[in-house]
Amino acid sequence: MTPKKSVQLSGVVVAESAICSIDPDEGVLMYRGYDITDLAEHSTYEETALLLLDGELPSSEALSVFESELADRGLPAKTAETIDRSAGVAAPMEMLRTAVSTLSFSDPGRGNTDASSARRTATRLIAKLPTIVTRYERRRQGLEPVPPDPSLSYSENFLTMLHGEHPSEREARAFDVAMILHAEHELNASTFTARIVAGTGADLTAAVVAAIAALSGPLHGGANEAAMRMFERWGTPEQTPPEVRAMLERKEKLYGFGHPLYRAYDPRAVILKRISEEFSHEAGEPNWYEITLASEQTVLEEKGLYPNVDLWSASVYRYLGVPTDLFTPLFAASRVAGWSAHVLEQYADNRIIRPSAEYVGEPRREFPAPDRA
Ligand SMILES: CC(C)(COP(=O)(O)OP(=O)(O)OC[C@H]1O[C@@H](n2cnc3c(N)ncnc32)[C@H](O)[C@@H]1OP(=O)(O)O)[C@@H](O)C(=O)NCCC(=O)NCCS
Repeated sequence: MTPKKSVQLSGVVVAESAICSIDPDEGVLMYRGYDITDLAEHSTYEETALLLLDGELPSSEALSVFESELADRGLPAKTAETIDRSAGVAAPMEMLRTAVSTLSFSDPGRGNTDASSARRTATRLIAKLPTIVTRYERRRQGLEPVPPDPSLSYSENFLTMLHGEHPSEREARAFDVAMILHAEHELNASTFTARIVAGTGADLTAAVVAAIAALSGPLHGGANEAAMRMFERWGTPEQTPPEVRAMLERKEKLYGFGHPLYRAYDPRAVILKRISEEFSHEAGEPNWYEITLASEQTVLEEKGLYPNVDLWSASVYRYLGVPTDLFTPLFAASRVAGWSAHVLEQYADNRIIRPSAEYVGEPRREFPAPDRA
């Protein structure tokens, strides 16, 4: 019997796409033909999102128009109310999928799958997800939500709404880079989910709600939070190698390691690792960086596995003061650009996605007598 692989459909090509390419052996990731290392160095989240949606780097005029559309960050009353009611009871990803669902009640593009409606809805979602996440955080802390400031960039505004104070330039840039690096990643589980939902003719918000649900699991987007929980448990860099070895011995999963595609160092993790190191020096709090580094070295030695994006985003978000259970909602806020690009691509040449299963159950059986016990 062939051993069961831990990733189903691995290596099976199910769609043609012009959005994102990955070289798993060299550890290269490109959005629309641009290396993410260049985007992280020179682009902004707004520009990268537009590149993903439209396929080209925008002119400065097109970017300004998009930025002003993205400045419409306020929430409809129903959405605000949903967040306020769920703040004490719902986990962040439960709240997020519920609140995003309510956005469609007042979306002019509701129910439409034509390119211009879906494109407008995409902009609306990218603009409003940060307001949803940060309103929830402020409410559950018993604080007043910080209203969005349209004069600020996407990332400055996100951090300001989260913390109630303006970030430093360095913090805003680090956050922006993290958002760029999470914006898209080909046919991962949540993006495939979005395309399946879009393929039925459902609208973009429906596809994004389903994608948020898929992202929440610890084998996917939830891995960044799960990685930080491990670091918190280990406590110190010295304690990390024995804890890692013990987990490997017990055949437990180490979150933030391994990848269905990459056989080299995840290029997103390379950049986040550098940012984490810089913050560790600046903040005078090297613990999170050093624990992550010790785990990376031990897993590489013991198992030959590389870290993925979630290992190194965890400490960066911690240095930026993001609560651990908001790591995955942040991932969703960024990835909504990639999900939307894929849904637009799906609509452009749509067919319902309906694979088959190999039946391995009982062969045909007689229905038992009606007087069975
Ligand atoms: C992503 C993932 C499902 C890929 O699994 P995969 O394709 O089976 O991985 P590989 O084929 O490279 O596994 C090689 C070996 O390393 C082990 N391994 C892989 N990832 C591991 C991890 N995170 N922790 C512990 N062991 C792991 C496998 O069990 C396998 O062990 P074996 O040779 O003793 O059977 C897996 O690495 C994982 O669950 N990672 C943790 C979750 C995570 O961080 N997800 C975010 C991905 S961006």
